Amino acid sequence: MVSDRPAARPTNPRFSSGPCAKPPTFSLDRLADAALGRSHRAKIGKEKLKAAIERTRSLLGVPADYRIGIVPASDTGAVEMAMWSLLGARKTTMIAWESFGAGWVTDAVKQLKLDAEVRTADYGQIVDLATVDWDTDVVFTWNGTTSGVRVPSGEVIPADRAGLTICDATSAAFAQDLPWDKLDVTTFSWQKVMGGEAAHGMLILSPRAVDRLESYTPPWPLPKIFRLTKGGKLIEGIFAGETINTPSMLAVEDYLVALDWAEQIGGLPALMARADANAHAIWAFCAARDWIDNLAEDPATRSNTSVCLKFTDARIADGAAFAKAVQKRLEAEGVALDVGAYRDAPPGLRIWCGATVETADIAAMLPWLDWAFEAEIAAQAQAA
Ligand SMILES: Cc1ncc(COP(=O)(O)O)c(C=O)c1O
Repeated sequence: MVSDRPAARPTNPRFSSGPCAKPPTFSLDRLADAALGRSHRAKIGKEKLKAAIERTRSLLGVPADYRIGIVPASDTGAVEMAMWSLLGARKTTMIAWESFGAGWVTDAVKQLKLDAEVRTADYGQIVDLATVDWDTDVVFTWNGTTSGVRVPSGEVIPADRAGLTICDATSAAFAQDLPWDKLDVTTFSWQKVMGGEAAHGMLILSPRAVDRLESYTPPWPLPKIFRLTKGGKLIEGIFAGETINTPSMLAVEDYLVALDWAEQIGGLPALMARADANAHAIWAFCAARDWIDNLAEDPATRSNTSVCLKFTDARIADGAAFAKAVQKRLEAEGVALDVGAYRDAPPGLRIWCGATVETADIAAMLPWLDWAFEAEIAAQAQAA
């Protein structure tokens, strides 16, 4: 029997995994102070870029001797420039358990043509990080956005490793604890947990990563937007707000406004607690039902940002069609936008739980998931 439509609706039905919901206090007027029509190299522009860097450092607790740069092309730009600039000096290990990690494997093996050790796991699982050789350079994704499987802890990474760790943390930063002493290169985009805009990436380098940049020249050509050194020395300006090319000062302002919000609500612990509360609400929903489950098999690896779900009801004839139909019903009712599983991932739903999402909106959306599931089971029975 199909139940009635729930009475309540989420105030904000935006549960996309990127670009993610804006902070709850966001409005376009908040961008009025943007340095529009001004040079990013003028004092006003440079100060804003520098503030974005230094406020990121303090919010995330990045050590003072780590460099933080704003680079072109969002998270992808940051990961690519790290891989192109640093890899090849020693053996490389590429680790992937979902689509974005798999993309970095392709780049290392097919574009850079590195003879890399490739370690992969299926959607829902994770590579056993205890068996990785951390004396090689290791490229991995902290939170697999398309499978909802995350690294449970950095303890497994040895402090005295000889290789560099290059970590795509775009859907983890600001929601999960990142152990800076275990990460030599960390990248993310403003568009995820902070609800900022895409286009610019953040590149965080440990002193060991800087040593590598200054002591190693890769054998392949580097386009201007990837170049982090000049004459064998780090271009320090990049890490003080002198961006390689022109940034969007509107996007910079938007990030500063997101930082205001994050600082006001209590900083990193508050951001992480909000993501946790959102994810817990969905986990509890799944635990109470026998037709839906987390895609992440090991509870320790469940993401608190990109929560990926699979339908497990034996009555479902075509998993992909079913999941799509449920998503469409939710979207048509205006109660959950953009919650379909990623195109390469197993059929299901992906519900963003990062800090900008309100737990009350998750709670208001979940009864609609019950409703859409039952409606679709009934529709399927009728069609048969
Ligand atoms: C893990 C991961 N890496 C990279 C990307 C690409 O990010 P961007 O489009 O900001 O470059 C995404 C986007 O969802 C992602 O989730």
